[in-house]
Amino acid sequence: MTRLLPNWSFIGVVLVLSCATTALDVARADTRLPAPLTDADFLYDGRPTGALVDLGRTLFFDPILSGNRNISCGTCHDPALASGDGLALGIGEGGTGAGSRRTTRDPVTGRVPRNAQALWNIGARAYVSMFHDGRVERSADGHGFDTPAGDDLPGGVSNLLAAQAFFPVTSPIEMAGQYGENPVADAAATEDRLRVWELLAERVAHTPGYVDMMFDAFPMLRARDEISFVHIAEALAAFQTVAFRSDTAPFDDVLRTGDVSLLSRDAVQGLSLFYGKAGCANCHSGPLFTDHGFHAIGMPQIGPGKGHGADLSYFHDTGLPARQEDEGRYRVTLDDADLFAFRTPSLRNVALTGPWGHSGAYESLEAAIRHHLDPAGSLMGFDPDTVVLPELGQVLRLTGRGTDLGFEVLAPSRRQDFDLRDTRVMTTHQLRARILKANQLVPRTLSDNEIERLVAFLHTLTDPAAARLPDQRPKSVPSGLAVEPPL
Ligand code: HEC
Ligand code: HEC
Repeated sequence: MTRLLPNWSFIGVVLVLSCATTALDVARADTRLPAPLTDADFLYDGRPTGALVDLGRTLFFDPILSGNRNISCGTCHDPALASGDGLALGIGEGGTGAGSRRTTRDPVTGRVPRNAQALWNIGARAYVSMFHDGRVERSADGHGFDTPAGDDLPGGVSNLLAAQAFFPVTSPIEMAGQYGENPVADAAATEDRLRVWELLAERVAHTPGYVDMMFDAFPMLRARDEISFVHIAEALAAFQTVAFRSDTAPFDDVLRTGDVSLLSRDAVQGLSLFYGKAGCANCHSGPLFTDHGFHAIGMPQIGPGKGHGADLSYFHDTGLPARQEDEGRYRVTLDDADLFAFRTPSLRNVALTGPWGHSGAYESLEAAIRHHLDPAGSLMGFDPDTVVLPELGQVLRLTGRGTDLGFEVLAPSRRQDFDLRDTRVMTTHQLRARILKANQLVPRTLSDNEIERLVAFLHTLTDPAAARLPDQRPKSVPSGLAVEPPL
């Protein structure tokens, strides 16, 4: 049985404020703290077989799953960077290096349009959707998954996290590569996802080191040619469930013991604000610090956005022919109420997972929190030039259609216009105003001191397990390719 709602327990916490300058010596807060996480909260009851996890770990770091064999899941979900990439917006395939050293090696068609999500506790059963906009989600009837692949998603996918793993490999910009570069990219360019998954499964099945690992991980597998992308996805999910589990932070000790005195005084005061007057737990609720819902909070957007075509009403409102904003959940539901709404992110290890926001607009945790207190002021005052994005080398432009698809290097005269896309939304008044109009977050007043305490509380979500994450990176992978990310 899967729990859809976080399981609340009510723990009355007595906060002893020993600060002499405070009028209150003892404050009582009836703080609603969630129940601690246990194995049962995770897929595979938190304990998939070692063989499945080992296979998943190897695949996660092996560039074999990318069309041009130059990027792995781990490149963007880097264990040395707390499972993100440390960048506001990353560079997908065609890039080289990790973190702030990442640049383009080959020409690319653009930036990855959203901040790479950290993967902490992503194997928790409570997740009902994946991605900032939730476009991969459990079907309402409880059977199967709703995804951008529609009926193409094969049967036999046992969980949401495995369903997610089918998608990064089909994205030309993230992993597949550009039309004409390799057969996987060719299939991806024509949205022939079944072919992408088939080609990648064949690659794995024809790599000797993987075949035995597959047989160990899937005892029902009889022959090599039965290996499919479903097996790959299931293994990736098992690995992520174990590797990115985080329930041993100082805050978890409080949940297990009910003893807030384990935290610093500042953090306890931050906790009481978080669950009390600051209203954070209205959305960042439960042990995962998310309500799994979507909210428009007026976060600034940098980068090229997610596009999705042109329509006349949009042209009417903005004078621009095609969307450059990232309209978030609206892209999935086409419901105006979802404009610019994004899934409430988990705050587990949040002090380590910057830059913050769906496009990484904020470079400090404090700025991300302050945004919540005055969304309108923060959005309207946001200076997009403060955001550091990696330099792009040569940029390619897609030409032609169908079998005439091709690429040309963007002419210098058009390049400047292309680069302006990084800041266009924030420098175009109408577009900023659309984001503002959708905002649902009510402003709140907190003192500088209170904000500092909230930050102190969020640091209690930093798990020592994050420092051990780099141990997950294998030294070599069966394909013989260089492990990604590089050390
Ligand atoms: C080029 C960088 C890149 C690569 C490579 C990449 N990802 Fe991601 N990942 C992202 C970004 C960016 C997002 C958020 C995308 C969005 O919301 O549209 C994301 C989201 C996710 C999520 C959803 C997390 C959540 O909270 O909903 C999971 C799970 C994930 N990636 C796993 C993987 C796996 C497994 C692979 C390899 C098969 C992979 N990623 C490859 C950049 C990358
Ligand atoms: C109305 C629901 C809501 C409330 C209340 C709320 N948040 Fe958020 N928070 C969100 C959403 C949604 C995002 C992601 C928005 C985006 O990226 O566009 C977010 C993002 C964040 C981030 C950035 C996380 C990341 O990984 O990028 C932090 C930090 C954060 N919130 C902390 C807080 C704190 C502290 C409070 C209380 C002062 C709070 N939030 C109150 C919904 C909420």
